[in-house]
Amino acid sequence: MTGLTRRAALIGAMIAPTGRLAFGREPAPQPVPLPPPGPADLRSAAHTQGRFFGAAVQDGHLRGDFQFREAVLAQCDSLTPELALKWAAAHPAQDRFDFAAMDEIAAFARTNGKRVHGHTLLWHRSVPDWALAALAAKNWEPIHRYFGAAIPRYQDLIDYWDVVNEPLEIAGEADGLRRSPFFAAFGPDYIRRALHAARSLAPEAKLLINDYGLEHADAEGRARRRALLALIDGLRRQGAPLDGVGLQAHLDLARGVLDQTSLAAFLHELASRGLTVLVTELDVREADTARPLAERDEAVADAARAFLEVALDQPAVKGITTWGLSDRYSWLNAEGEGSAMRPGRNRGLPLDVGVQPKPFFHAALAALQKPPFFGNSPGGPLPGPSAGEGYGL
Ligand code: G3I
Repeated sequence: MTGLTRRAALIGAMIAPTGRLAFGREPAPQPVPLPPPGPADLRSAAHTQGRFFGAAVQDGHLRGDFQFREAVLAQCDSLTPELALKWAAAHPAQDRFDFAAMDEIAAFARTNGKRVHGHTLLWHRSVPDWALAALAAKNWEPIHRYFGAAIPRYQDLIDYWDVVNEPLEIAGEADGLRRSPFFAAFGPDYIRRALHAARSLAPEAKLLINDYGLEHADAEGRARRRALLALIDGLRRQGAPLDGVGLQAHLDLARGVLDQTSLAAFLHELASRGLTVLVTELDVREADTARPLAERDEAVADAARAFLEVALDQPAVKGITTWGLSDRYSWLNAEGEGSAMRPGRNRGLPLDVGVQPKPFFHAALAALQKPPFFGNSPGGPLPGPSAGEGYGL
């Protein structure tokens, strides 16, 4: 409840049906106008659009930080394990699984009626060392064992799996596919094979490819979009069980203002292939952290707003997840990955370091409170399925 709503409710409770204050002789004041109706938390707002809201979390932060935990409970339907379910974390030795951290997140989700987003099965940056030699020998067995242990364990909680994370790499080969240890061992067919393997263990879950760099329409972004659509079309021709795409949406202020028209066209291309789309890792990397805080926060909120306006205008988009919830814990707080964290160094999440709402939060809330009005994307009506080339894809 906002401060204004709470005040209005209190005053309302104090006013007797006669219109006079219940405990005094003064005439009743004019009722305080109520703010426009609409839920004041992100998850309830998302529900009004038939969507969900989630955030990436770490088990230690849920365990040790009461304020953060309460915010997650209030704002999120869905929890993405930021680290705990990655292969290297959960299967550190050939003969040893370690699901302790993931089990803790799962227990938290079960206790509190939350869902879990399955992040992630195959990611080139999370292959355990012990598995590298086996993969190099073209042995699928390590993947089979990991899928077999991880997928059934959380089947009651996971509706969506990032089966393959970040398969694209446009700087390299013409096909736009990353030369990962999986690609090196099995060629591009590893993606189809992984989807089938996941489907056999999770018949009900939606299976996704999750990737980054698809939101901006610069040369790299357009090349990544084309590579993803080509990959999807190839998989569909082969009958692979691909249900959707995760757009990571790590927005970057250094890459300039988002081109909403071309983003809408790209989302339409995905939707027209019958795919579910999730926004899986939304946050905003700042370009200039020397500016006054208020300006920084407005710039971050503007980018999030521009992105969400388009994403939420596409009915195929079923949920929004931010990569963290508060600037207290964000991968963008490290100077470089693996270096020390400085909470609030980057202010790219909905809540600030004090776990309080800031302009990003209000922009997301307003976008999620709007009644769905699909087809009203900025730039006019959505293009037809064949219009992709004309929209910079
Ligand atoms: O826990 C250790 C800590 O003890 C140590 O002091 C510190 C400094 O070396 O490192 C800490 O571990 C780091 C961990 O994050 C916890 O913050 C790891 O080095 C670091 O590699 C790890 O990075 C994570 C990265 O994925 C790799 O797993 C990030 O937190 C996480 O946000 C990031 O998430 C990825 C998504 O999975 C895929 N999309 C991109 C996204 C951002 O890179």
